[in-house]
Amino acid sequence: MKKSILIYGFAFLFVLSGFAQSSFAQANILELPAAQKTGGKPLMDALSLRKGERAMTNKALTLQQLSNLLWSAWGINRSDGRRTIPTGMNKQEAAVYVVLETGVWLYDAQKNHLIQKLNQDVRSKYSPAGVTLLYAVPAKDSFGKMHAGSMYQNAALYCASEGLANVVKASGSDALKGILSLPSGYEIVIIQAIGYKK
Ligand SMILES: Cc1cc2nc3c(=O)[nH]c(=O)nc-3n(C[C@H](O)[C@H](O)[C@H](O)COP(=O)(O)O)c2cc1C
Repeated sequence: MKKSILIYGFAFLFVLSGFAQSSFAQANILELPAAQKTGGKPLMDALSLRKGERAMTNKALTLQQLSNLLWSAWGINRSDGRRTIPTGMNKQEAAVYVVLETGVWLYDAQKNHLIQKLNQDVRSKYSPAGVTLLYAVPAKDSFGKMHAGSMYQNAALYCASEGLANVVKASGSDALKGILSLPSGYEIVIIQAIGYKK
């Protein structure tokens, strides 16, 4: 009798620990270094250098460059949580996905980290780049594409400052349709390839 209670007890604990692991398991997270918010080229130099460049390598950016790039596009630049871009009524309805060799990641500006959303290498769906950013906004938000435009322009100015190539592309925006799940009602409206110049 005692033996069977023990066996059932262990079995119960085993099932419980499996449940705890699956329910509370940490999502795969990639911590970013703090963005460097000073320095770089003067604004007028960056504006003079801003251009779309398609010739780039697929060498990965450093984590520091990635952090700086994402902060430029969609980072928080004030203690009240507002961003490097303006958003209608400060609703901040946008999401930036990051295509890396390790999969597709969502940028979380508050936590300054990336959350893995796909763990497969989908880079072949895009042109060669060190990183491809996917800009998603609510399909029904009349301001959505304005927000995407602000983000890619900020990212392009960071690239100009850092000497990186970048190009924005509407084509390829739906390359992950049905593969990458987005927040409800969101769609990817434009993508941006970024990398070292060839
Ligand atoms: C909204 C938008 C959509 C674009 N879509 C594409 C595209 O699908 N494919 C592409 O090669 N370039 C695309 N481009 C890049 C433009 O062709 C490029 O910005 C334009 O030729 C001007 O060159 P510049 O960016 O060097 O000034 C797009 C640019 C914008 C702003």
